[in-house]
Amino acid sequence: MSRLEGKIAVITGANSGIGLATAKTFLAEGAARVYLTGRRKAQLDEAVRSLNALYSGERAVGVQGDVTKPADLERLYEHVKAEVGHIDVVFANAGYAAPAPLGSLTEEQIDELFNTLVKGVIWTVQQALPLIDEGGSIILSSSIVGTKGFDNYSIYSASKAAVRSFARTWASDLKGKNIRVNAISPGVIETPAWTESDIPREQRDGFFNYAASITPLVRIGHEEEVAKVVAFLASDDSSFVNGSEVFIDGGLAQV
Ligand SMILES: NC(=O)c1ccc[n+]([C@@H]2O[C@H](COP(=O)([O-])OP(=O)(O)OC[C@H]3O[C@@H](n4cnc5c(N)ncnc54)[C@H](OP(=O)(O)O)[C@@H]3O)[C@@H](O)[C@H]2O)c1
Repeated sequence: MSRLEGKIAVITGANSGIGLATAKTFLAEGAARVYLTGRRKAQLDEAVRSLNALYSGERAVGVQGDVTKPADLERLYEHVKAEVGHIDVVFANAGYAAPAPLGSLTEEQIDELFNTLVKGVIWTVQQALPLIDEGGSIILSSSIVGTKGFDNYSIYSASKAAVRSFARTWASDLKGKNIRVNAISPGVIETPAWTESDIPREQRDGFFNYAASITPLVRIGHEEEVAKVVAFLASDDSSFVNGSEVFIDGGLAQV
């Protein structure tokens, strides 16, 4: 399996969860270099160490940084430019979900969510553009919540709806450059965002069971299942998929 043979990829938020699983899949599929980012340096170092222990060639590289800080992204892309000179794939994945109930919304909650999930995606993509080659693929992390209305998550949901919208418009903005932009919309995926959160285990399992019960495939998803779809969108196998939203949710968004 070498769909990504020789490709250079950048994945934000790759020291955990979907981002880390995607880095692993990219390397397994032959990527020449995968740049991983995240704010927590120790987790990032451990992610890079574990990937380079699995795959030959020291092809995983960590660059610590925060997507809400354009200077950090500038430093990331300077690093990539100096080492390899170009990028084939950007997966703007960094993010988190947090409840923010209408009626008690604070400016801080709104700014933190929008800065990470909306502005972070804008800077991640815009600053990468000068390095992205013809035939490049940009993948944005949206969510099924962008089209659903789970209570207390209006700000997170609106952020993901914005991301889904970016995929459509940016695909058009990049017309003629042969650079594709697509969004993925995962359903409920078991990642450290859930398993290492403060949510009590019983409550979390109750939610997982509920989510499974309303999903046509009657289960929640695994990060590897998301990673495989991202790898497809990163590869030339999806060369005519552009401006799309790909649901990875067992059918949950459809019900
Ligand atoms: N799991 C799900 O059910 C699900 C469903 C739909 C969509 N998603 C989306 O999938 C993406 C990945 O989530 P996940 O479930 O894999 O969660 P996760 O395991 O918690 O991973 C989130 C990653 O984002 C990084 N991150 C967060 N804020 C950041 C920032 N400001 N700058 C740089 N990195 C940042 C985290 O690293 P640091 O904390 O070290 O920065 C971590 O690497 C998110 O955008 C999430 O909204 C998840």
